[in-house]
Amino acid sequence: MIVRAPASSANLGPGFDCFGIAWQLYNYIEFSPADELIIIGCDEKYANHDNLAYRSFALALRRRKIEAKGVKIDFKETDIPVSRGLGSSSALIVAGALAADGMYSLGLSKEELLEVTTEIEGHPDNVAPALLGGLTASTMVGADPVTVHFPLSEKLHFAALVPPFELSTALARSVLPDEITRGDAVFNVSRAALVLNALGSGDAALLGVGMEDRVHQPYRFPLIEGHELAKSIVKKCGGKAVCISGAGSTLLAVSDEAGFDEKLQNEISPLAGWRVISLRPDFEGAKIL
Ligand code: HSE
Repeated sequence: MIVRAPASSANLGPGFDCFGIAWQLYNYIEFSPADELIIIGCDEKYANHDNLAYRSFALALRRRKIEAKGVKIDFKETDIPVSRGLGSSSALIVAGALAADGMYSLGLSKEELLEVTTEIEGHPDNVAPALLGGLTASTMVGADPVTVHFPLSEKLHFAALVPPFELSTALARSVLPDEITRGDAVFNVSRAALVLNALGSGDAALLGVGMEDRVHQPYRFPLIEGHELAKSIVKKCGGKAVCISGAGSTLLAVSDEAGFDEKLQNEISPLAGWRVISLRPDFEGAKIL
């Protein structure tokens, strides 16, 4: 079976480790029965039992007390850029769990799939939209992930500005302070409310304010060389809001103007090696084709 798993952007400014949107930008991974683990179509260093798609496949089986014997995992088409903050790891993780569920008829509920995938990823902000589609807000209640959906307006146009360099999530998390002030907490909570409202109503100007953040972006922008030029290009092209996609290095830009992404394509060249990917929300989540 082939699983199609979407890219996703976590955080969306103030919603650190909480908000996420799934995109119509996909990895296609084929799973078929085998006597041992065979992984093809990816870098050799990932072709082993630590592969995220395999770990998730095996963990989903363990939910039903089944030990994984073997499986062939073929990375047929991988359009999600790696280590760029577009949820490539989460796409593999949700694909593995979904494949196990389908191949072995495990009958796992969405909640169980979310639990399995969150256990591997560590936090649910990417796996929730990758699994369920749309705009999600997620949290942990004890050990259990809880996710709710919010509406996403069709008036908004999204684009990813993808730098030529990777940014590891571990590094991007290591620069964050352990504690923040009450003022910064209030700043983020209030912006988070604006972001959800603006994404639902399509109010791009409000989104510009709402996507401000004091919890992670001030510490991460310095790791993204070229971010200031990128922001000015976004503005010139009619962008109304910009944030770091997940932990970076990609920037997510939003506008209410049609043709925004084509303008960005035409104006991106001063940023050597950067590329623009037009993003449309995915409302289906990962699925077996
Ligand atoms: N919320 C996470 C972060 C996303 O910003 O570190 C990356 O997994």
